[in-house]
Amino acid sequence: MSKEAEGADNQSATRWKEEEYFYPAKEFTAQANLNDQAVLAGFSLEKFPDYYAGFADMLTWYKPWQKVFDASDAPLWKWFTGGELNASFNCIDRHLPHLANKTAIHFAPEPEGEKIEHITYQELFVKVNEFAALLRDTAKLKRGDRVAIHMPMVAELPIAMLACARLGLIHTVVFGGFSSSACADRVIDSGSRVLITIDAYYRSGKLIDHKVIDDEACQLAAAGGQKVETMLVWQRFAGKYSSAAPPVAGRDIVVGDELKKYYGARVEPEKMRSEDPLFLMYTSGTTGKPKGCQHGTGGYMAYVTAMSGMILDIHPEDCYWCTADIGWITGHSFIVYGPLALGGSTVIYEGVPTYPDAGRNWRIAQDLGVTIFHTAPTAIRSLRKVGPDEPKKYQFKFKLMATVGEPIEPEVWRWFEREIGKGQAVIVDTYWQTETGGFLCSTVPGIAPMKPGSAGPGVPGIHPAIFDEEGNVLPPGAEKAGNICIRNPWPGCMQTVWGDRDRFVANYFGRYNTKRDSKDWRDWPYMTGDGAIQTADGYFRILGRIDDVINVSGHRLGTKEIESAAMMVPEIAEAAVVAVAHEIKGSEPELYVSLKPGVSPSPEIEKKVADAIVFQIGKIAKCRKIWIVPDMPKTRSGKIMRRVLGAISNKGDVGNTSTLANPEIVTEIQNMVSK
Ligand code: PRX
Repeated sequence: MSKEAEGADNQSATRWKEEEYFYPAKEFTAQANLNDQAVLAGFSLEKFPDYYAGFADMLTWYKPWQKVFDASDAPLWKWFTGGELNASFNCIDRHLPHLANKTAIHFAPEPEGEKIEHITYQELFVKVNEFAALLRDTAKLKRGDRVAIHMPMVAELPIAMLACARLGLIHTVVFGGFSSSACADRVIDSGSRVLITIDAYYRSGKLIDHKVIDDEACQLAAAGGQKVETMLVWQRFAGKYSSAAPPVAGRDIVVGDELKKYYGARVEPEKMRSEDPLFLMYTSGTTGKPKGCQHGTGGYMAYVTAMSGMILDIHPEDCYWCTADIGWITGHSFIVYGPLALGGSTVIYEGVPTYPDAGRNWRIAQDLGVTIFHTAPTAIRSLRKVGPDEPKKYQFKFKLMATVGEPIEPEVWRWFEREIGKGQAVIVDTYWQTETGGFLCSTVPGIAPMKPGSAGPGVPGIHPAIFDEEGNVLPPGAEKAGNICIRNPWPGCMQTVWGDRDRFVANYFGRYNTKRDSKDWRDWPYMTGDGAIQTADGYFRILGRIDDVINVSGHRLGTKEIESAAMMVPEIAEAAVVAVAHEIKGSEPELYVSLKPGVSPSPEIEKKVADAIVFQIGKIAKCRKIWIVPDMPKTRSGKIMRRVLGAISNKGDVGNTSTLANPEIVTEIQNMVSK
């Protein structure tokens, strides 16, 4: 195993044995969007980039594109250049002639007493147009301006996104659970003058005041140099304001009141160039500051539409439910843009899957006749633990189930297949990232067999390879871990890091590109930052991150982000985060801190650190335990040995510590942790 992969956050993933194949049911294959093996030959690397023309053909263009792929500004690839389109038009308007009265969005509120709202394509058209008109007039925005959206899982979130897209504005959705500080960071970095929010929403039976967080976010953003001039506040209950934070005069607009003025308004979609940015999605990386992954219009839309068809097998008659949050990339690509571009019906559920009990998901699936269920291994582990007998009690039948975000243990996979899939559903384990816009590896459900614990080969068009430290490609079946890279560009890939081209190039291509001036895509393999193994059948098993990123419940947390939050506490001298294996979440962060000279450990300091993390990032980054240690294990050059701390936290073997500058500290910390 390579040095890199050894350091991976791979406690939950790696060491399972090779599994038997499972084959898709004939009934599924017969109806699948892609079931002809012969089609796959068209996706060989020799045929790159032309095979992506078929992806673009799934969209409706105002002006046809001239060139599939443009490498002139390598590695900032451009796709479908010369073409013009609008994402909102592709998700809504083009369906009106034949699907106007079909449900586009089913919104399931968390309280079961509230009715599920079914929004047809016609209704979505009306809502998006009216809100777009309001946004245009009140916020005085122009094409290319950024708009931050900090909202939970409500139907108004995709409405706001699609309204931005209609106007040619670049949205940056901030996960609803993020703190005011995390929201402010994104407002500042994206230079958003407008923030769209909601007064309140339900979570675990409680009506959470959300607007109050965004008032604070505005203050923090202003202190950081970015004034929010306009805040648009949706209401969870029409006509009723549900936040303790009143609208701020001159800045806030209560959408429900203002929208009345726009009754019947229609906004012509902006004709966007294919390479114009559609949105930014911030994600954690190796440095403390999250980076804004910039996704384009034509390439991204073509990619997510094709993937929603080929891999998720969405047909207009399906009821598709992805339980991710729209505040993450999965929600953007596979709740909103992909499914709607195909004229699908997509479910948005406001609350937590186990509220009020572990049968909640299955009641939604039963009531709506969900046919495709897309979720994360964490959710499956949790449902298996708290409600193993629940699925049996309800009548639902999925034709396909998808998992995303983390490796799934074969045992959990089999439970999912048997109990939730009822032995009939096909499963796709989709491996990809915020940066990649859509899938990298997965089986094609109507063609290839499934193998529990393996994501599968590259999806059609994607040619992954395992690179070793020296940049050699390991052959399939080498059974050696290395760094999984993608040899060819693809249209869904982010265009750049917002405002930081150098960071984009260095981060994703710096390692394996040897010719900095090359305009040949073959010189620019994309580095995912994950360790993986490829078996002889070409399937990839993902081992986890090779960098300083922790995967908690399928969400990415930068260790540096957590560490820098801890360092905000004046008493803290050093901080180091490690990932600890967790039964449900895959892993959890655990934090080690050392104190400045003269400061003594106390529960108060521990609490200060915990609070700082929740304030800077949000509850999602809460550490399982904060250990105040006398010193960190360090190399002679003064580098903190996170690997040793990780082994201590996971009760594993710390290995040879004799070369450390302070080996005695290892036993001291071990004694502390094992108490
Ligand atoms: O480590 C991989 C893991 O999640 C990372 C990407 O996280 P994020 O950008 O937040 O996107 C999550 C949703 C696409 C990857 O670098 N990951 C994602 N999917 C899988 C996975 N690990 C194993 N198997 C997967 N199917």
